[in-house]
Amino acid sequence: MTTALTIAIDGPAAAGKGTLAKRVAAHYGLPYLDTGLLYRAVGKLADDRGVDLDDAEATGAIATELDTSHLDDGSLRGREAGELASRVAVHGAVRTALTEFQRSFAARAEGAVLDGRDIGTVICPQARVKIFVTASAEVRARRRTDELAAKGRDVDYERILAEVRERDARDAGRAIAPLRPAPDAHLLDTSELGIEAAFQAACAVIDRAMA
Ligand code: CDP
Ligand code: CDP
Repeated sequence: MTTALTIAIDGPAAAGKGTLAKRVAAHYGLPYLDTGLLYRAVGKLADDRGVDLDDAEATGAIATELDTSHLDDGSLRGREAGELASRVAVHGAVRTALTEFQRSFAARAEGAVLDGRDIGTVICPQARVKIFVTASAEVRARRRTDELAAKGRDVDYERILAEVRERDARDAGRAIAPLRPAPDAHLLDTSELGIEAAFQAACAVIDRAMA
């Protein structure tokens, strides 16, 4: 029986997974892995090298040789890398190449928090706690727009909304590891929850699972 506190946090783009996962990890003293960064790194590397993003074999080879110790690159956080990530994330070869790293992170003796799209369904179906974070597409697009505007970027809400919808459709519609809640996931709709309220709701779920 596994007693380590492994926490899987999944959900669509800009639902607030990362913000929540970081706070949860700090609160429970657990290591945190943003699995989206892995897909972003593969997408960006493929694009930089002029590799066709629809080529499963070539993008799979890039995922296989990915240096997972150098992922915190600021350039991976942007919208363009998110789009590249979701295009390479449809390939089984890419997903398989990234699985072992994620699973061994999740299997740490002290526990771990991972966020992504398929943590509760594929990477870590045995996770002690699974949380599926959602919010309406409009709320998520508004948050992204505000986030970018705060950084001084010139952004258009309607365009961000279209991008969010496109990414949702690709992530939920793909054949392999589509975005969907695990049957035993706790749904956390943050459409009307601020960061603090979402964090408190997640802690209540986690504390119950630990009791
Ligand atoms: O990781 P993910 O793409 O799911 O989202 P995020 O980067 O954690 O959050 C996207 C934006 O929404 C950030 O600017 C957060 O500060 C904001 N946010 C919010 O306003 N309310 C929440 N309950 C969660 C996040
Ligand atoms: O922060 P945001 O939610 O916008 O994106 P992300 O979590 O960094 O993920 C970028 C893209 O990588 C997603 O749109 C998915 O296509 C893919 N991804 C995935 O397929 N599986 C994961 N576990 C994490 C990300």
